[in-house]
Amino acid sequence: MEVDGARILVPGATGELGSALVRCLHDRGAVLHLAGRDEAALRRLRDQLPGARTSTFDAYELDACAALTRRAVEQMGRLDAVVTCIGVPAFGPAHHISDAVAEHLMIVNAQAPIAFLRAALPLMEPGGVLAALTGVVAGNPPAHMADYAAAKAALAAWLEAVGKEQRRRHITVIDLRLPHVNTGFANRAIAGRPPHLPPGLSITGAVDRVMDALDAVRAVPSQAS
Ligand SMILES: NC(=O)c1ccc[n+]([C@@H]2O[C@H](COP(=O)([O-])OP(=O)(O)OC[C@H]3O[C@@H](n4cnc5c(N)ncnc54)[C@H](OP(=O)(O)O)[C@@H]3O)[C@@H](O)[C@H]2O)c1
Repeated sequence: MEVDGARILVPGATGELGSALVRCLHDRGAVLHLAGRDEAALRRLRDQLPGARTSTFDAYELDACAALTRRAVEQMGRLDAVVTCIGVPAFGPAHHISDAVAEHLMIVNAQAPIAFLRAALPLMEPGGVLAALTGVVAGNPPAHMADYAAAKAALAAWLEAVGKEQRRRHITVIDLRLPHVNTGFANRAIAGRPPHLPPGLSITGAVDRVMDALDAVRAVPSQAS
């Protein structure tokens, strides 16, 4: 897709990957709507990215995620892409994970990203892109990450099915299955302690992968008259 001038909504823009991604998108000329739960962090980011608009949300308020999407489109005039960067992990054997933690993981890692993307669907024109950061765990769930991996797998399954539904509309749906990235994500777990992790991909390397995926989306072929 042509990033220069594209109208892009990024939920989770205040996270390590989200903020690195929006800086890169801004440098490439995208018109941005930054969504996050931390108002002060959003303000700091907006100060660095002239022209970007911001909105706050909490992942638990799914209706508000959808409403934010519609508002962002109204403000930007159109919507070319959504890239969700929301997520939180937990670690430990499944019998040590409470139902409340499992629910939290499912809401933040699957239901909230889906709420943003679902609301965007009817608002997108052919050529639009819906993308979400899932992770390699979606296809290869490791021990002691059952509920986090299950939530990412749920999101990945939704993306795959919606990608099939939207093919004829020329809406591209992208499952960004990143490996471990050096963002300190594991240390922000809501339960349990992370295993020792070898060094992962750099943040720059991860953003490059996202940008490569966006760049690889081909323009809609023009209709022969
Ligand atoms: N780092 C990795 O190794 C890795 C690997 C594969 C995939 N991923 C995925 O990449 C994405 C970004 O990860 P990251 O490393 O950049 O982690 P991060 O810095 O912790 O970013 C996570 C984002 O999710 C937001 N978030 C968490 N709980 C929320 C809630 N209840 N309501 C609203 N927002 C909430 C955070 O908001 P705040 O800014 O307010 O905290 C933050 O913007 C996640 O989806 C993660 O699963 C990460």
